[in-house]
Amino acid sequence: MSIVLFGGEKGGTGKTTLATNMAAMLALQGKDVLLLDTDRQGTASFWATVREETEVEPRVACVQKFGKGLATQILDLAERYEEVIIDAGGRDSMELRYALGVCDRAYLPIQPFQFDIWTIRQMDDLVDMAGAINGNLQASIVLNRVSTNPSVKEDQETREFFREEGFTNLTLLAGVLRDRIAFRKSARDGLSVVEWKRDRKAASEMNQLFCEVYGG
Ligand SMILES: Nc1ncnc2c1ncn2[C@@H]1O[C@H](COP(=O)(O)OP(=O)(O)OP(=O)(O)O)[C@@H](O)[C@H]1O
Ligand SMILES: [Mg+2]
Repeated sequence: MSIVLFGGEKGGTGKTTLATNMAAMLALQGKDVLLLDTDRQGTASFWATVREETEVEPRVACVQKFGKGLATQILDLAERYEEVIIDAGGRDSMELRYALGVCDRAYLPIQPFQFDIWTIRQMDDLVDMAGAINGNLQASIVLNRVSTNPSVKEDQETREFFREEGFTNLTLLAGVLRDRIAFRKSARDGLSVVEWKRDRKAASEMNQLFCEVYGG
């Protein structure tokens, strides 16, 4: 059993993409998974509704919850499901803070662009604060939308920056997701990229990430 959060302070970094893919991949393994959408934009819920309406199997249960009392609700849901995946909105919200207080692992996607990289320090501080009430919290940065052009070295530069700065509360995952249209198209159909089956490289990147998050 685990409570896994996809969050961060910045919008549009890939939280919902990661959360929905991980949820579908757990369901494919036969796990009883709940996708908990704590973002009022409701993007993860839209994805789950498309999946439901197009009768994609396996089904992925999804509920929306916001605001005060969220921490208790998350813990209650964790009693009822084998795995809980939380998709938090793209800002330093109340929901993000509650979720950081009770989750086992947090994954914070960033794009390897300077404006995103500058937010790592804030995330390190936020995780530090959350660690005061959640002693078991493990938090990792995930690089998303890395260029497919090998001459663009943004991911290496981000890794160097990460090493030099020495963030105390964060690790950086080895696996990255590159900027691929497959991640957008599969989401539109309520699928994970591994179910979409039209881009092996995208599926392989998501599989590697899954192994890092859930241990294979
Ligand atoms: N690796 C990728 N390659 C191409 N497109 C991507 C990739 N990751 C995410 N996207 C696209 O970028 C957009 C933002 O992604 P997503 O909705 O997952 O981010 P988010 O962090 O959940 O955003 P928000 O902060 O608004 O909740 C979406 O259109 C998504 O399909
Ligand atoms: Mg989102």
